[in-house]
Amino acid sequence: MSLSVSHPSIAVLCSGGGSNLQALISRVDCGDVEARIAWVASNNGNAFALERARRAGIPAHHVSALTEGGSEGVERKLLELLEEHSVRVLVLAGYMKVLPAAVIRALPGRVVNIHPALLPAFGGKGMYGAHVHEAVLKSGAQWTGVTIHLVTENYDEGPVLRQRVAAVVPGDTPATLGARVLALEHDTLWREVRALLERT
Ligand code: GRF
Repeated sequence: MSLSVSHPSIAVLCSGGGSNLQALISRVDCGDVEARIAWVASNNGNAFALERARRAGIPAHHVSALTEGGSEGVERKLLELLEEHSVRVLVLAGYMKVLPAAVIRALPGRVVNIHPALLPAFGGKGMYGAHVHEAVLKSGAQWTGVTIHLVTENYDEGPVLRQRVAAVVPGDTPATLGARVLALEHDTLWREVRALLERT
């Protein structure tokens, strides 16, 4: 595992299974991304993403309004964790909560989110998980894909950093389309994290 102290620190926020986190861990481990994952945090104490982090020897934190005594506590805790580990890039990989504005301001241009469609299409309220792929199929679109964008205070509207396209094929269901897009996500997130580390 690449744990050189000279490597910049990144941190990852997740809410669910954490397959994107896993893909990033693998790329850090093999040296494709020269970084150290300082910590992983989730608003959901049962998120499998936290277990994946622990298995990889990465500190895993449950940070929610419940654990921190309210939303101000969440903001305080996240800021504390960012500062303590001098985090350069914060990655939202399936994080289902709105990030406190103070956290976004603490890392200007260095907080990224991954979305399973080609924003600005199929983004915004209610567009998460299978809902995104259902909407793509319903629209009759022949293409969908992956978007990595900067997180700004206007959610899902931050500048697009990288997009990749996936085909919608006849007979697709939300599950088959979702699996195709997810595989592309796994091969995309680390590339943008690496690029962002190189230019910040
Ligand atoms: C991914 O589709 C990501 O684009 C979206 O949430 C999902 C997270 O999946 N924001 P996983 O937890 O990384 O498996």
